[in-house]
Amino acid sequence: MDIISFAGGPGAVNTYIIYGGDLSAVIIDPSDNDKICDLVSFNNLKPCAILLTHGHFDHVWAMKEIIGKYNIPYYIHKDDVKIVSSSVYNFSEVFGYTDKSRYVFPDPVLINDCDVLSFSDMTFKVLHTPGHTPGGVCYQIENMLFTGDTLFRGTVGRTDCYFADQDALFESLKKFSRFNDNTIVYPGHGRSSTIGFELANNPFLINKSL
Ligand SMILES: [Fe+2]
Repeated sequence: MDIISFAGGPGAVNTYIIYGGDLSAVIIDPSDNDKICDLVSFNNLKPCAILLTHGHFDHVWAMKEIIGKYNIPYYIHKDDVKIVSSSVYNFSEVFGYTDKSRYVFPDPVLINDCDVLSFSDMTFKVLHTPGHTPGGVCYQIENMLFTGDTLFRGTVGRTDCYFADQDALFESLKKFSRFNDNTIVYPGHGRSSTIGFELANNPFLINKSL
């Protein structure tokens, strides 16, 4: 199992491409079509699924092109379907991106808390972490945790979005104390971290546990 990442698209979203021994590849939060296609081609990868951490427009910016090119399913929590499919709720309109056709996708594969998703030799566990959005999720594979806009290095996601809920976010943050300190945190924006670093230094996580 290996991982490639880059920041792309209008929100400088971290896109992660995780691939297994047979080069099957899972794309988390596709932000830039050209970069993804170049990396897939250069590494001879075989995209098999898109996993979304949540439905905001910057995290799905390249979805239309990627689905069109590779004809692969996308996975999203059921409570974020209303967000990803609305150019108002996903914030594309307010940022001036008015092409609504970008957000017309085929039906998603709906996921729930504790789901286990297997692709080739890769197994992802779903952790529902509502707050930034109602259907925000993290994905765990081995000692890595992809946290979207729920948890960043040193801070957490904003709660002034449509359907955001600060109390729910604070409840979600308690779940991170379950993980080993050496779990690597790969957020939706910015630098990577570890659970140990965040529990010791992130003011939103200190003294918070289940
Ligand atoms: Fe977001």
